[in-house]
Amino acid sequence: MDKVYIFDTTLRDGEQVPGCQLNTEEKIEIAKALEALGVDIIEAGFPISSPGDYKSVIEISKAVSEPVICGLTRAKEKDIEVAADALRFAKRKRIHTGIGVSDLHVLTKLRSTHDKVLQQGVDAVKYAKKYVEDVEFYAEDAGRADLNYLVRVIEAVIDAGATVINIPDTTGYNLPWIFGEKIKSIMENVKNVHKAIISVHCHNDLGLATANTISGIANGARQAEVTLNGVGERAGNTSLEETVMILKCHKHLGVDTNVNTKLLKPTSELVSSMMRMPVQANKAIVGKNAFAHSSGIHQDGFLKNRDNYEVIKPEDVGVERSDIILTARSGRHALKYRLESIGFKIDDPEKLSRLYDKFLDMADRKKQIEDADLRILMKSEMVKK
Ligand code: KIV
Ligand code: ZN
Repeated sequence: MDKVYIFDTTLRDGEQVPGCQLNTEEKIEIAKALEALGVDIIEAGFPISSPGDYKSVIEISKAVSEPVICGLTRAKEKDIEVAADALRFAKRKRIHTGIGVSDLHVLTKLRSTHDKVLQQGVDAVKYAKKYVEDVEFYAEDAGRADLNYLVRVIEAVIDAGATVINIPDTTGYNLPWIFGEKIKSIMENVKNVHKAIISVHCHNDLGLATANTISGIANGARQAEVTLNGVGERAGNTSLEETVMILKCHKHLGVDTNVNTKLLKPTSELVSSMMRMPVQANKAIVGKNAFAHSSGIHQDGFLKNRDNYEVIKPEDVGVERSDIILTARSGRHALKYRLESIGFKIDDPEKLSRLYDKFLDMADRKKQIEDADLRILMKSEMVKK
């Protein structure tokens, strides 16, 4: 199995969510949890952006030792100096520098020319190499950039010493097969590509971040830039838990990660509570309903064989067990199962039918039937007898 490096940017791109800012202590706690989870690289912040970010990168560098600690910069000497300084305590460190490469960014954001931008990228990589061996270059808005120009930029920054090349779909614009083709073209046309790792960094503006990331990996990328719960600016970033579990489920892709998947749910909960950002109930892998079955047909199929309605085991991602939710849509099989789980074994089909009618009556009045309601149901049955 080839390895895909997991580059977690919850504390940098993820933390840009309005209202979700974290203080240094909270960031350290999350960084330690990310280390335990087994991520390979932690992007700890953008040191020049604020004194708080600078301090957090220093403290995270001291607090964790296994993952590489990464600091973001623009392609500017001052940014790189401040990042290098903030990373001074890191056992393993990386500077992540870069510049916009789409025509839009070159012409309307940077108000520059393609040649000047390429040179600025090369100079930034060379400057960062004075401080650290491991330099990642991001080609911002690569998802919308001209492919020939992108290839030229990548070749030049690898020659300048970049060890990782980040291909961001900054605006979440790409379709999965088109993004995959882009990565494939890079792998085939950048002459020195074997000297660097190609990384994918996708945003979720059209809900395609994870699909684009997987497509990038299927076409040769070997680093995925992700966040817990998919948090991030606007519609967010690629979700760590989705990426990791897709690679685990689809072994034919031939790649795996170092992540201890059993820690996914608790780490997701930690991030959600610290960022004060609830996870949507139907979120894949870590949502409250990710392993909850509520319709009669599904419940019956699941109770006969869980594989009928689950592609991953809840225990594999740190969720205790699947749930059978009782509503007016549930069938007899689900009712029998839930009654059994609280100690009432019903073998007589007639008795079960009688209870089921009462249950439906109750479920029509209440939205969801809990264990306490089932006890009331059983009590009324006993009283009647
Ligand atoms: O989305 C993006 O392009 C980024 C870069 C700064 C890496 O976050
Ligand atoms: Zn981003």
